[in-house]
Amino acid sequence: MRKENGLQSLGIMAVCLQMMMMRMRRIGCVKASSPRLALEKSLVWPSKDTQCVHLLKHLQNGARVTVQMPPNIQGHWVSTSCEVRPGPEFLTRSYRFFHNNTFKALQFYYADNQCSTPSYSVQVRGRLRLRQPSWIVRGGTEAHYQIHSMRLVCHSASAARELGCASWEPNISYELRSVCDCVCGCALNVSMHELQLLRLEKQYLHHSVDQLLEELYLGDIHTDATQRMLYRPSSYQPALQNTRNQDVSCVVCAIISRSDEFDPPVLPPQPELTVTLSGQWASRRCEVRPEVLFLTRHFLFHDSTHTWEGHYHHYSDPACKHPTFSLFARGHYSRGPRSARVMGGTEFEFRVSEMRVRPMDLATVSLLNVFKGNSCGAQGAWQVGVEQDVTPTNGCAALGLRLPHTEYELFRLERDAEGRLLLFNGQRPSDGSSPDRPDRRPTSYQTPLVQCSAAGGQRSEVSAAQRLGNLATTATAVWSLLFVSF
Ligand SMILES: *[C@@H]1O[C@H](CO)[C@@H](O)[C@H](O)[C@H]1NC(C)=O
Ligand SMILES: *[C@@H]1O[C@H](CO)[C@@H](O)[C@H](O)[C@H]1NC(C)=O
Ligand SMILES: *[C@@H]1O[C@H](CO)[C@@H](O)[C@H](O)[C@H]1NC(C)=O
Repeated sequence: MRKENGLQSLGIMAVCLQMMMMRMRRIGCVKASSPRLALEKSLVWPSKDTQCVHLLKHLQNGARVTVQMPPNIQGHWVSTSCEVRPGPEFLTRSYRFFHNNTFKALQFYYADNQCSTPSYSVQVRGRLRLRQPSWIVRGGTEAHYQIHSMRLVCHSASAARELGCASWEPNISYELRSVCDCVCGCALNVSMHELQLLRLEKQYLHHSVDQLLEELYLGDIHTDATQRMLYRPSSYQPALQNTRNQDVSCVVCAIISRSDEFDPPVLPPQPELTVTLSGQWASRRCEVRPEVLFLTRHFLFHDSTHTWEGHYHHYSDPACKHPTFSLFARGHYSRGPRSARVMGGTEFEFRVSEMRVRPMDLATVSLLNVFKGNSCGAQGAWQVGVEQDVTPTNGCAALGLRLPHTEYELFRLERDAEGRLLLFNGQRPSDGSSPDRPDRRPTSYQTPLVQCSAAGGQRSEVSAAQRLGNLATTATAVWSLLFVSF
């Protein structure tokens, strides 16, 4: 069996890189410097790209979002949509945190991807203690929790059978015991490890002082079921919203907030959208990848030629203000069937055949220049803000990127409350590897991208990269798009 060392180690390499940069900053050998790039006066950006640029620019000046540390999470928090966890599991969540540091967490599980057929609900009670700011994920707060009780209600006889609890009656709440003396429901692997990492964001919607949106991000769930109970989160799940000042457009939040374990939320069915990738898609927020990576992504798809390009901009901070390096990748894609495993998902295959790297700070430049041999562009020639094509060297060993590379993907489309299209692509494996084999195909999704232009745009790979560079120069905005598992 051939081992794809390259991309698998990308996550790890990136971590080393981040660590190294953090260390160098601490010992003061790296001074922040903003890259000065020549502004291409001749470059005319097509107007259809403007919206994507605006979006990513807006993302950058994240002044509207404030992060509370340590967070005051007292209150009632609910999911804003039907969530998909690795497996897949379809669920909604309703969590209450009390003044006396106890919590009551309700998780509602479903048989379908619309969260319209409840199968069982789990109620977990316990105690939570917030600790120090996270060393692993900047901007997050670590916490310790203890579980006092765990109860399960099945909503149908068939759900009870599937959990191995055929004797349990629907609509009756049963105590779930610890794994050791487990009679039934033992295979559930319920844990609340997500409470080990928290981040609370507040923002005023529509510049109005009365419309405060509070979002609580809890730790992510390992993509491999066998690792779930051992994993300490290093990224986040979709945010929960505070019910106190709920966004009125969130119908789902309202339904979930009035539900309980005997009367689980039943979400209204949504039209299933056929995945058409054509157009441009960009991050809506500064995204967090497991293991210390902050990034923004911007993709362009050309359905007619089955080609794609992705721009991924990496940062050292959770507000995506301090760029570390950018990647540009390009290749072909092909559409597969609807997923047999993940209801509502569609399979795709992506090939990466071209790649360019642009280091954006001195620490990354040093790292790239330290590498010997012709394994990442021209040896010793890396400079801040200057892009190199690493296709001729079959990728970039220093960053763990090997070309050509194939990824097995999972996509789905959804419309948000404002009618914009959201594109979900597969969650990257939590161990930092790459979904480079069909059996590694994701069963859950990452933070969605929003459609910012219905047109793919021509030559956009040039204009996009240039634009990013230019924006970085003016220190107003940098964006990126990527989907290789860096
Ligand atoms: C904590 O507060 C909640 C809600 O007020 C209450 O139900 C619970 O009994 C309290 N727990 C303890 C240990 O005081
Ligand atoms: C469970 O209880 C709810 C109301 O509490 C009721 O509407 C539903 O029919 C019950 N389901 C079963 C399977 O008994
Ligand atoms: C529960 O965990 C065990 C081992 O930790 C794993 O083998 C099993 O697949 C998990 N079950 C589910 C339903 O995820």
